[in-house]
Amino acid sequence: MSEKCRIVTLDGPAGVGKTTLAKRVAQAMGVAYLDTGAMFRGVAWTLGEGSWEWDEERLSAGLCDLDFSLQGQGMDSELLLNGEPLDPAIRTEKAGLWASNIATLGTVRAFLKQAQQAIGRDVSLVAEGRDMGTVVFPDATDKFFLDASVEERARRRYLQLQGLGENADLDEISLQIKIRDAQDRNRPIAPLRAADDAVTVDTTGIGVDEVFSRIMEQIRKNEAQ
Ligand code: C5P
Repeated sequence: MSEKCRIVTLDGPAGVGKTTLAKRVAQAMGVAYLDTGAMFRGVAWTLGEGSWEWDEERLSAGLCDLDFSLQGQGMDSELLLNGEPLDPAIRTEKAGLWASNIATLGTVRAFLKQAQQAIGRDVSLVAEGRDMGTVVFPDATDKFFLDASVEERARRRYLQLQGLGENADLDEISLQIKIRDAQDRNRPIAPLRAADDAVTVDTTGIGVDEVFSRIMEQIRKNEAQ
């Protein structure tokens, strides 16, 4: 990481509100926002169902054709795959599950880690994901880990999908979150966990404005040190 690039990391489980917060923090700081979940979703969606069972040779060849880049800042940050915006279908729960499957593979993680670090060398970032503070940007000065109960996260995702006019089933969403949580927390490579030097914020029962204020306050404190 170059001296001038400042990295804020925001890790946490599915549905905890990382994306909303990461965008707002990036906007407030005037830096770019990197959604690394979208990178795993984009890889899984492009390579397709069952790609997590491919042999190494086929997988490496598939990854070779994928090139991620980031343009813009704050709310206007845009992640591109081979120069194009990502397919909106990556936002479905199905694509989330596929992403979680492919995210267990060392080859995919190594490929994306390199791409994420390359982006972080060029621009200051708010990077959200599962292993930003632990593995990808261990030297970041501002690390946050967001958490909330499964019930609360399922409810938020349900309302979000309803707001998008999509058919949503609360029990189904809750089940998918539990499956992803278990897979993300228990995988041997880069499991979901808070970095030792991360500030953990339990967002259960707290509004997004309050969480945003706490994060910005901590960033300002870190800056003053
Ligand atoms: O954050 P989002 O729900 O979009 O992530 C989709 C999946 O991608 C996660 O369930 C996780 O398995 C994987 N992921 C990861 N490491 C990251 C970001 C996402 O393993 N840094």
